[in-house]
Amino acid sequence: FGVHAIFFFFFLILSSWWTEVQMGPPDPILGVTEAFKRDTNPKKMNLGVGAYRDDQGKPFVLNCVRKAEAQIAAKKLDKEYLPIGGLAEFSKACAQLALGPDNAVLKSGRSITVQTISGTGSLRVGANFVSRFHNVSQDVYLPKPSWGNHTPIFRDAGMQLKAYSYYDPKTCGFDFKGALDDISKIPEKSVIVLHACAHNPTGVDPRPEQWKEMAALIEKRNLLVFFDMAYQGFASGDIDRDAWAVRYFIEQGHNVLLSQSFAKNMGLYGERVGGFTVVCKDAEEAKRVESQLKILIRPIYSNPPMNGARIASTILSTPELCKEWLVEVKDMADRIIKMREMLVSNLKKEGSTHNWQHVTDQIGMFCFTGLKPEQVERLIKEFSIYMTKDGRISVAGVTSANVGYLAHAIHAVTK
Ligand SMILES: Cc1ncc(COP(=O)(O)O)c(C=O)c1O
Repeated sequence: FGVHAIFFFFFLILSSWWTEVQMGPPDPILGVTEAFKRDTNPKKMNLGVGAYRDDQGKPFVLNCVRKAEAQIAAKKLDKEYLPIGGLAEFSKACAQLALGPDNAVLKSGRSITVQTISGTGSLRVGANFVSRFHNVSQDVYLPKPSWGNHTPIFRDAGMQLKAYSYYDPKTCGFDFKGALDDISKIPEKSVIVLHACAHNPTGVDPRPEQWKEMAALIEKRNLLVFFDMAYQGFASGDIDRDAWAVRYFIEQGHNVLLSQSFAKNMGLYGERVGGFTVVCKDAEEAKRVESQLKILIRPIYSNPPMNGARIASTILSTPELCKEWLVEVKDMADRIIKMREMLVSNLKKEGSTHNWQHVTDQIGMFCFTGLKPEQVERLIKEFSIYMTKDGRISVAGVTSANVGYLAHAIHAVTK
């Protein structure tokens, strides 16, 4: 018995179901945060993560969110499951925010919006939907570069990943000609992903005239448009201006797919609240699409979480709270715009003769500085300033107190 027990014991130790599982690489952005945490330099800066910080460098909860939470708590609502497609009031307000409350699409009922697990969940539900039902093409074209998570989201949903030119490293701006050239060669009926505003990671958006040409070409190529709008209001400070491209495409007859997130513009990051919309030919098609979205969502997570959706829909449907939100979202956008300006003026003060105009031309939380990997390496090692290797900085991590130090360090590694 003793010998058997020992063998059995060794068998348990030695055998495993998962010996074939290889160690995966760390997430590039979360890896930056880990290294930052270990650093003991009091001047250290984390410009890797994409979450807004106030001018004291602290996470920020919006006043309108605090007030909505208090109103919700006072109602003592129950916590029963939401329907598969989420909170109906939320979905309605979410679509109205994106399309504009008077949009004819909403009035005719030819769109369907479901509540999703923030922007990521929305993109994934959308990717799964396209993969299951867009049988004419499984190719999805992303801008070069795109948000790092777009690739695995679409790949894990079974789509084939392709890319079109977007960013021009020579100008640190939009490669309009390259984008048009590439889009004109995309096979008909493919899916094209467009960042509605505040393109991540570059901060480079097309201008309205450029969007117009892109919309016409995309129509000519008969491509299925998938808009990712993770930053409505956060880019310019104006929710309508930031939604302009989405509304223009719809006006031109594109029956788009749309992902929305309330992580950034309401600061509801961990609440995981977002929406997925499909604009359809007519109300009957929208009903069919809705039924299949529910069939798709049910075995993944059954139904979405309620708290963030209650907060967002309370804000959007209560006029005083909505007014306060519009001011607060503009304050966040303005602080970021101001930090861009201060960074450039401090670089000039340091004596930098490079052209830094792209820093103020770009928009949204991220700035593609144009710094090379070896310069980024020096910023980390010599100055404890952390960012992703591609030279992207989160402007939300810059404050009036540390912008001078950042400019000094960037000048030191670029002179
Ligand atoms: C382009 C883009 N899409 C989608 C998201 C989704 O974020 P979340 O899932 O937190 O809403 C982000 C967040 O960084 C993003 O930058």
